[in-house]
Amino acid sequence: MADAAETGRPAFPPEFLWGCATSAYQIEGSPLADGAGVSNWHRFTHTPGRVRDGDTGDVACDHYRRWREDVALMRALGLRAYRFSIAWSRVLPAGRGRVNPQGIAFYDRLVDALLENGIRPMVTLYHWDLPAALDDRGGWLNPDMAGWFADYAQSVFRRLDDRVESWTTLNEPWVVSDGGYLHGVLAPGHRSLHEPPVVAHNLLRAHGAAVQAYRAEGRNRIGIVVNLEPKYPATQHPEDLAAAARADAYMNRQFLDPVFLGRYPDELREVFGDAWPDWPQDDFALIRQPVDFVGINYYTRSVTRHDPHAWPLRASGVPQKHATRTETGWEVFPQGLTDALMWVSERYHRPPIYITENGAAFYDPPTAANGRIEDPLRTAYLRAHLRAAQAALRRGADLRGYFVWSLLDNFEWAHGYAKRFGIVHVDYATQQRTPKDSARFYADVIATHGAALAAEIRGAG
Ligand code: BGC
Repeated sequence: MADAAETGRPAFPPEFLWGCATSAYQIEGSPLADGAGVSNWHRFTHTPGRVRDGDTGDVACDHYRRWREDVALMRALGLRAYRFSIAWSRVLPAGRGRVNPQGIAFYDRLVDALLENGIRPMVTLYHWDLPAALDDRGGWLNPDMAGWFADYAQSVFRRLDDRVESWTTLNEPWVVSDGGYLHGVLAPGHRSLHEPPVVAHNLLRAHGAAVQAYRAEGRNRIGIVVNLEPKYPATQHPEDLAAAARADAYMNRQFLDPVFLGRYPDELREVFGDAWPDWPQDDFALIRQPVDFVGINYYTRSVTRHDPHAWPLRASGVPQKHATRTETGWEVFPQGLTDALMWVSERYHRPPIYITENGAAFYDPPTAANGRIEDPLRTAYLRAHLRAAQAALRRGADLRGYFVWSLLDNFEWAHGYAKRFGIVHVDYATQQRTPKDSARFYADVIATHGAALAAEIRGAG
C-alpha cells in the first residue's frame, strides 16, 4: 500500500492516538482469581436465562493469563494506545475498604508492559462490572455509590497515575441505566421506570466525585465516555420532531448536558413523568466538574418516529430499507459519526474528543487455507468511519484519537460469544488469536497516519 510520502499529506495529525479498546469482564476470564470479589456480571451470567446460550465471562479470552501475548499482538499491529477497564472487584473485593494487592498488581504489570512496548494506556474505571457486595447495598440506586466510587478511583489513581496519562470514569452510563434498570437486559436486570433516573443521577454524581478526587492528587487527564446515536426525525411532522427530541435527550444529552451545562434536558420530565424526581441543585455543582476530554462511542444512528406504544419514550426507530446492517442489526451510517462529533463540538464548546469505541460485529468466514480471515465488511466499516472522523477534523472538531472496538472477539454481554467485534479473531476452544484482514488494514492506517485514506478522500473530491 502507498505510504505517506507517495500520497502526500497524511489524513490525520502525527500526534493522533491510534488504539483499540476492550473491557475487563469481556476479555479477562478468571473472575475470582487471586482474591477477587464476585461482580454483578458474574452473578448475572450465572443466572439461567440471562445470557444467550448460558455463556459467561468465566474464561472469555483468558486475557488475565495471556496478557503478555496480547500486548505483543498490540505491538505487532503498531497500536499507539490501548483502552482497557479495571475490574473494581479485583481491586476492592468487597467494593470498598480493603485493597486486594494481587488485584491491583495485575493492572500494574499490564501498564508497565504496555509502556515498555510504546503503547499508551487509557484506563476506564467502570465498564459495567460492579462488585456484588455493592449491588447488595442497592448498587447504583444507593446515593453512597458516589463516595464509594471516588474511594475506589483514588486507590487506583494512587497506584497507576504515575504511568497512566488518560483516565475515564464511566463507560456509557446510559447503557447502565437503560439496559440494567429500565429494560433489564443487562446486569443487574431490573425493569423499572422509577429506577433509571436515580441510577443515572448517581452515576453522574459518582463521575463528579471521582473527577474531584483526581484533581486533588492526579497529574494527568480525566474524562467520561458516552455512547452517542444521532436521532434523525423520520418526517418533519411535529410529532416525529418531538419524538426525535425525546430520544435525543434520553440517549445523547442525559449525561453530557449535566457534565458540561449543569442541567438535565427538559424532555426527560416528559419521558419519565411522575418518575422524574426534583434534584437538589447542589448535585449539579458536583456533577459539573471540568473534564479534560470526552470519549465518544459511536456505532449507529436512528431515524426516529412518534410511536405511542414504545415504552417509555413514545419514540421508535424506523428501519431504513436499503441500509447495510451489522450482525447486531445496527445500520451502518458513517455520516452519523461526523454529525455526532460536530454536535458535541458545537454544543459543548469544542472539548478535546477521542472516539473511544467504533467497530462492528460481522460474520467471519473460517480461516482460509493461507491462514487469513477475510472480513471485508468490517474493513469497509472501519474505512468509512475513519473517513467520517477525518471529515469532522477538517470541519474543526478537536479530535485527538480513535479506538477500534475491539481488539479481540469477546464476551458481548447478553449476546454471549455469538457476536464478534474483534479485528483479531479468537478461537474460544484453543484461545488462538488470528489477526483478521481488518487488523491488517488498521495496522496500515496507523503506520501511514491514514495516508491511503487521504488519497481516497482527495479522489472523492
Ligand atoms: C460497549 C461495549 C460493547 C460494544 C458493542 C459498547 O456499548 O462499551 O462493551 O461490547 O458497545 O456492543
